[in-house]
Amino acid sequence: MEGHYDKSGPADLYLFGWVNNVTQEVTGIKLPGGLSFLVHQDFDAPITGLNAFPEEDRPGQVNAVFQFYHIMIAIGMFLIGLSVYASFLWWRGTLFDKRWLLKIFAFSVLLPQIANQVGWFAAEMGRQPWIVYGHLRTSDGFSQEVSSNQILFSLILFLVVYAILFLLFIYSVNKKIKHGPYDEAENPDEFLKYV
Ligand code: HEM
Repeated sequence: MEGHYDKSGPADLYLFGWVNNVTQEVTGIKLPGGLSFLVHQDFDAPITGLNAFPEEDRPGQVNAVFQFYHIMIAIGMFLIGLSVYASFLWWRGTLFDKRWLLKIFAFSVLLPQIANQVGWFAAEMGRQPWIVYGHLRTSDGFSQEVSSNQILFSLILFLVVYAILFLLFIYSVNKKIKHGPYDEAENPDEFLKYV
């Protein structure tokens, strides 16, 4: 199934897909007119495509933006599905018998971290080549005074600080998961031991 992302006609909604940045063809599984429906509640409503904008005013890495955005939404939908299913089992009183599901829950704490990163990539790469749309280009926005080595050094420092924070996060989440749920009404001070 192929689609063109540049026409100003009805736009499809891709569940999964691959954008060829050169031919501007999208290959994947789609709901025809789905994006038109999301925006205008009409499967035939026209959507302005990327090619309505001059090439120098739009992002080049369309496939990367597409993939990062889709990963974010897949994670969001998976977590919603997981929560709804687990709520149903909890209501039936069988949630805590399903060890495989509880294992998925334990590892799912990583998914919002990934969604945060890819969501941010989608936003940052999708707004290129602009810092302020229509006013300031990224190429005009960087400082002449700061060298690339200084930027690299700051990046490494950020990486180290965030890696430490991430390890602390995993450590405290793991502690909470291992401890299991407790009844706050019966034991209101319990949580203080685990903060
Ligand atoms: C349920 C499906 C989801 C939908 C429909 C959705 C939708 C969006 C949209 C429309 C944007 C703006 C993209 C742009 O700049 O054009 C965005 C950005 C973002 N999303 Fe999601 N999202 C979903 C799930 C998630 C989840 C589960 C997380 C993390 C837990 C997440 C984290 C982010 C982040 C960090 C950004 C970038 C914000 C910024 O700095 O501009 N998203 N999302």
